[in-house]
Amino acid sequence: MQTLAGKKILLGISGGIAAYKCAELTRRLIERGAEVRVVMTSAAKEFITPLTMQAVSGHPVSESLFDPAAEASMGHIELAKWADLVLIAPATADLIARIRAGMGNDLLSTLVLATDSPVAVSPAMNQQMYQNAATQENIAALDKRGLNIWGPGSGEQACGDVGLGRMLEPMQLVERCELFFQTNEIQPKSQPLAGKSVLISAGPTREAIDPVRYISNHSSGKMGYALAEAALELGAEVTLVSGPVSISAPTHASTVQVESALQMHEAVMANAPTHDVFISCAAVADYRPEIIADQKIKKADDSDQMSITMVKNPDIVASVAALTKNRPFTVGFAAETQDVEKYARGKLINKNLDMICANDVSITGQGFNSNDNAITVFEKQGEHSLPLASKTQLAQSIMMLIEKSL
Ligand code: C5P
Repeated sequence: MQTLAGKKILLGISGGIAAYKCAELTRRLIERGAEVRVVMTSAAKEFITPLTMQAVSGHPVSESLFDPAAEASMGHIELAKWADLVLIAPATADLIARIRAGMGNDLLSTLVLATDSPVAVSPAMNQQMYQNAATQENIAALDKRGLNIWGPGSGEQACGDVGLGRMLEPMQLVERCELFFQTNEIQPKSQPLAGKSVLISAGPTREAIDPVRYISNHSSGKMGYALAEAALELGAEVTLVSGPVSISAPTHASTVQVESALQMHEAVMANAPTHDVFISCAAVADYRPEIIADQKIKKADDSDQMSITMVKNPDIVASVAALTKNRPFTVGFAAETQDVEKYARGKLINKNLDMICANDVSITGQGFNSNDNAITVFEKQGEHSLPLASKTQLAQSIMMLIEKSL
């Protein structure tokens, strides 16, 4: 049963032998509908690999305060704000002491400082360390501060001792989470798009030449996927029409996978009239080969050249904007290498869009394939400049601008 549906759990793993149980814990939480993001201390990595935790959680693991790639995808403050519950399991004596002292000397302790979400701590350590007066005082202080202390359990320990100090078993922790959400009125995060539906196209298209070759582009899909995440966060229902990308789709979006521009056109047109907003973030190929060869095209011995006749693809965003019935609020993207404002405003008018997000792709380190971007949002009246930031942050700003215009 989806007893944890939609709950966002930030799982903090510190360096105890019980860390190996976190893969199982994560699976059980996700099975019940939770979304799990994982943060590991450097000692935790001695007991279970980030790769394992990435595979079971479906998201990259955050490990360091100073990792530019991780900060770009979801910065530590965003992570701290994202969680409905921060669950630290196993929590070592050292981490508990650092949390008690209010230290922020690694990513996990910093997140505990930066979050306003409830925190649950599941102690796990040798029974003597647990009995130690310092640990007892530290745990009592966290308890007094309002953190939830779950465990420890009693029994045989990895070191051979017997006593209190075992981490609760994964299923016991899952039950604690269920009980916690049942009995606590978690303040819902602000959801101004609740009741609205958002359709987003993302990624590149592939235009087949023959059964093994195609024409495509470098779009990573990151911006469109970040928009989907941001819309979900704000409470919208999200449909994602995605070209082939190597990133995983947000769990709670309904995703339609397509390859070619014609397939994307069909999927978008089928969905657009039932959505309040359409964001065309996909890098759609403007042209496709007129003929897709049935068999692999062979190299010709008698000619150094070959040519492929290309025909125009339908302009998807313009087709949506031209709908006369049930037309959604329509947002386009424009990647330009010069005269950004002139070309973006031209597209806003020519394609009859409500809003266009323009970026200058001639600048290295932003736009295509990058984690960062800088965007100017043009509406018929007015513009908003969104300076260089992670695509996650930009997506949140864009979704807020769209929400204000609905
Ligand atoms: O004309 P240009 O390709 O620069 O316009 C970019 C915008 O148009 C983007 O929002 C893109 O998703 C959309 N587009 C489309 N169908 C096409 C080409 C572009 O929806 N065939």
